[in-house]
Formats: sequence, C-alpha cells, structure tokens
Amino acid sequence: MKTKHIFAAALTLMVAAGAKAQVKPEDAIDYRQSVMNVVGHAFGPMISMVQGKIPYNKDVVVKNSNVIDTIIDLPWASFAPGTEKGAPTKASLKIWSESEKFKELADKAQQAAVNLGKAVKGGDEKTIKTTLGDLGKSCKSCHDDFKLKEARN
Ligand code: HEC
Repeated sequence: MKTKHIFAAALTLMVAAGAKAQVKPEDAIDYRQSVMNVVGHAFGPMISMVQGKIPYNKDVVVKNSNVIDTIIDLPWASFAPGTEKGAPTKASLKIWSESEKFKELADKAQQAAVNLGKAVKGGDEKTIKTTLGDLGKSCKSCHDDFKLKEARN
C-alpha cells in the first residue's frame, strides 16, 4: 500500500514535469529571494571592508566573491512572466513592463561579478575594492528601479 502511494506520487511528479516544466509562482519567488539573500550575505562583509568598517580579509573576499560569481546569474530566470505575484514579493511590476532594462541591469551585475573575480585572481587589493564598489553600484541601480521598499502580495 505504502509503495503504491510513493509510486503514485512519483508518477504524478513525472507527469507534472513532463506536461510542462513550469515552476509554481510561489516557488519561483522563494527561489529568487533565497538566491538574492545568499548574494546579499556574501556581499555584506566585503562592502564593509571597502567602507573600512571591518579589516580587509583576503580569504573572505576570495570565498565570497566566488559565491557571487557562481550564483548571480541564477535569480533572473525566476522573474519569468507569471511570477509577478503568488507570494509576498518586493519585485516591482516594472520588471515585466520594462523587461529589457531589467535584463540589462542583470547583465551588468553579472559582468561586475566577473570583473570582481578577475580582480580577486589578480590579487591587488585596490583593484578588488574598486570592482567591489562597482558591483555594489550595479546592485543598487537595479534595486532603486525594480525592488520595492515593502513586500506586496
Ligand atoms: C537586475 C536587478 C537586480 C540586481 C542586479 C540585484 N538585485 Fe537584489 N533584488 C532584486 C529584486 C527584484 C529583489 C526582490 C525579489 C523578490 O522579493 O521577489 C531583490 C532582492 C534582494 C535581497 C533581499 C532583501 C530584500 O530587500 O528583500 C537582497 C539581500 C539582495 N537583493 C541583494 C542584492 C545584491 C547584494 C546584489 C548585487 C551583488 C543584487 N541584489 C543585485 C533585483 C536585483
């Protein structure tokens, strides 16, 4: 009986996946927020170093910039049409009405992350801090335009 249930559940999943590889809006929202939060946690200590609030730590910079470089391109696909609502979100509706601009800013952030990665490889602290500042600006320019102050439903 139990095995049968598991089998039925697996079959349902397979059918659902086969019918359309579509993610539920609330899952897409959860996913993009989770990735963004990880990006934020990785970025926070590094920008504090740039601002001189905490001492520069090369190991943290290497680790955290790697994290950002690896995952910064993950959230964008989860802003697909149909994910405007479904769970509390700070995504502005402009993301869907000005999707070209949103994509441009996403590409810019990705490029800024690549530049940071190169600088980290190079190892020059001043260049690293400059590229970190640039990355920070790319986060901010998108947030200013496309992230709401308060979550909406
Ligand atoms: C192209 C646009 C874009 C870029 C670039 C971007 N973000 Fe975001 N970010 C968003 C949007 C939109 C949300 C809200 C998502 C939601 O709630 O569904 C968000 C949410 C967040 C959150 C969740 C906190 C909150 O206010 O809810 C953090 C943390 C965050 N971003 C950090 C960053 C950092 C750090 C960078 C740069 C390294 C960055 N983001 C780059 C668009 C962007």
